[in-house]
Amino acid sequence: MNDIKPVRKAVFPVAGLGTRFLPATKVMPKEMLPIGDRPLIQHVYEEARDAGIEEFIFVTGRHKNMLQEHFDYQPELMKTLKTRGKDDMLEKVRDSEMPEGKLFTTRQAKPLGLGHAIWCARKLIGDEPFAIILPDDLVLNDTGCLSQMVETYNEKGGNVIAVKDVPREETNKYGIVDIGKEDGKIIEVKGLVEKPDADKAPSTTSVVGRYILQPEVLDYLAAFETGAGNEIQLTDSMAKLIGSQAFHGLKFDGKHYDCGSRLGFIEANIGYGLADKKIGAQVKEIIKDYSSND
Ligand code: UTP
Repeated sequence: MNDIKPVRKAVFPVAGLGTRFLPATKVMPKEMLPIGDRPLIQHVYEEARDAGIEEFIFVTGRHKNMLQEHFDYQPELMKTLKTRGKDDMLEKVRDSEMPEGKLFTTRQAKPLGLGHAIWCARKLIGDEPFAIILPDDLVLNDTGCLSQMVETYNEKGGNVIAVKDVPREETNKYGIVDIGKEDGKIIEVKGLVEKPDADKAPSTTSVVGRYILQPEVLDYLAAFETGAGNEIQLTDSMAKLIGSQAFHGLKFDGKHYDCGSRLGFIEANIGYGLADKKIGAQVKEIIKDYSSND
């Protein structure tokens, strides 16, 4: 009998300051920045919903209320769109609503790091496996990144993280995996180091902002140990699970965009623009125009 518990909950840490996008993020949360026709937070909500997630946990902070309101039912807007016969827009707005009783929030008073943000959600997570999705990281693919990870988790159990290769000179920007056995797209995680210098990095395989973790990680997070950048790092607590629980990385299918950096954000808008059925061909023309004017 398979005793792997299903993943029903996903945590969305959205309490960061988004300093790289100032002044755009002075009042507006970074996670409301749009890629294509929807904000980052809606992209990742849809990815989680498609992966079978039933409870959506937002770790929010000051000036972040807009993130919850985005998923509200908006009667006046719906009525106006209906009267004007804008059925396609009506459908899009409907898709951005979260069914009642599915959204849960907790607050992180001080942005002390990703690990601390997850610890703030401990009561809502409880004693079951859970997913974490960072809205900064988008993966463009027909089958969402989290759906792919859930498939791996259902087979292997334990912990599963999304991974991809990065240039060696960039290892100091990411969590880096010490790799054990490799089996196609699935790798065994032997160790994890947060932001190592290129000469100390155990590999060039980095962690992307998608995780399926066992609740024991919360016990390690409760120690409030600070790591790289003097922040309470999730990577450090995940590393402590290795050895006592299965831990795998998935080299997912799809194009990853780091929307938390200005360049990655622009690239994502190009990528999603090109993939858009309505305007993709025109976006391609625009890019051609710019390239030919070099
Ligand atoms: P980042 O470190 O990329 O976000 O965290 P940031 O700190 O908001 O951005 P910069 O570096 O100042 O531009 C990745 C995700 O984790 C959340 C952020 O909101 C973002 O979605 N986060 C980060 C928290 O919720 N709490 C934290 O203490 C740190």
